[in-house]
Amino acid sequence: MIFSKIKATGAYVPEKIVTNDMLSQYVDTSDEWIRSRSGIERRHFSDGENTSDIAAKAAIEILKNGNINPLDIELIIVATVSPDYTTPSTACLVQSKIGASNAVAFDLAAACSGFIFGFSTADKFIKSGVYKNALIIGAEVLSKHLDFNDRSTCVLFGDGAGGVFLQASEEECGVLAEELGSDGSRGMSLTCAEKKASNLFNQAEEAKDSFLHMDGRTVFDFATRQTPKCILRLIEKSSISADCLKYVIPHQANSRIVEVISKKTKIPLEKFYMNIAEYSNTSAATIPIALHEMMQKELLQQGDYILMAGFGGGLTWGGLLVKI
Ligand code: UT7
Repeated sequence: MIFSKIKATGAYVPEKIVTNDMLSQYVDTSDEWIRSRSGIERRHFSDGENTSDIAAKAAIEILKNGNINPLDIELIIVATVSPDYTTPSTACLVQSKIGASNAVAFDLAAACSGFIFGFSTADKFIKSGVYKNALIIGAEVLSKHLDFNDRSTCVLFGDGAGGVFLQASEEECGVLAEELGSDGSRGMSLTCAEKKASNLFNQAEEAKDSFLHMDGRTVFDFATRQTPKCILRLIEKSSISADCLKYVIPHQANSRIVEVISKKTKIPLEKFYMNIAEYSNTSAATIPIALHEMMQKELLQQGDYILMAGFGGGLTWGGLLVKI
């Protein structure tokens, strides 16, 4: 049997830091409100770098950490909802920027669950024997889609990229259990950059804007109902008990959501890795940035079991129980 081993991780966040106090100069908000409602203290915003730029920087870091030749990469998946263009895909731009000329590259749009969906997709290519080496990146420049007149969204999101290099392995590791899900009937509770069907036959009104719009309470409710169920089902599907999990890496959308997930799953809060205070919600990038940070801090060793769980636009959710 073939397994997908995490050979290397990497991440990149833009240098510019925007504190809650800085945002309170643009919208009627406060550091106290943002911290207490979300756990966010600051976020990183791009100063001109686009999604493919930061994704490529994360990719270069991954290659460096794993001592990997870009020509050996066979598959590149970039999970993003903030691509530079509709086409070329961000993954093709990354392929060109890092010189991975032997890879097939495509984007995957599953919002904040995107990295989990991408990891799962690459895992299938590897397990089926089609490819041996795959690069999966979650990358977002969400700041370009934020309405700085809408305090209910602009304080919650940031920019960043992170990812992993997966390699075929004979040792039992990688994805041991997974669950992906979608509920399109509730999709309108989180939208971004609508494109109307306007052409020769139908002069539709221009889309109002290209901003991210969110019904925060609906998404909060969805996340706190769906994610605990997903985590418990993953544990049930695998032969790994919750006690054996070294860490849970949740999507970093709101520390209060994580507290509810911890209560409902009865997994102690200390096992949930959190870095939302520093980066805010970077959608598809939150989980790989956290994973890389944990690797750097040596919080994870080979053989450890982790559970990664994402939720967000679509609406979508996904979880992976992984042996490092
Ligand atoms: O990645 C997945 C996508 N995102 C999420 O998962 C986010 C999920 N939702 C949430 O995290 C929370 O619902 C929010 C953080 C978005 C909001 O927290 P909340 O406790 O649900 O606040 P609320 O929406 O109920 O708003 C409470 C009040 C409202 O005022 P009124 O109507 O009670 O007078 C808002 O207008 O807070 C007001 N408010 C703000 N006040 C200061 C909303 N945003 C702000 C703000 N600063 N930035």
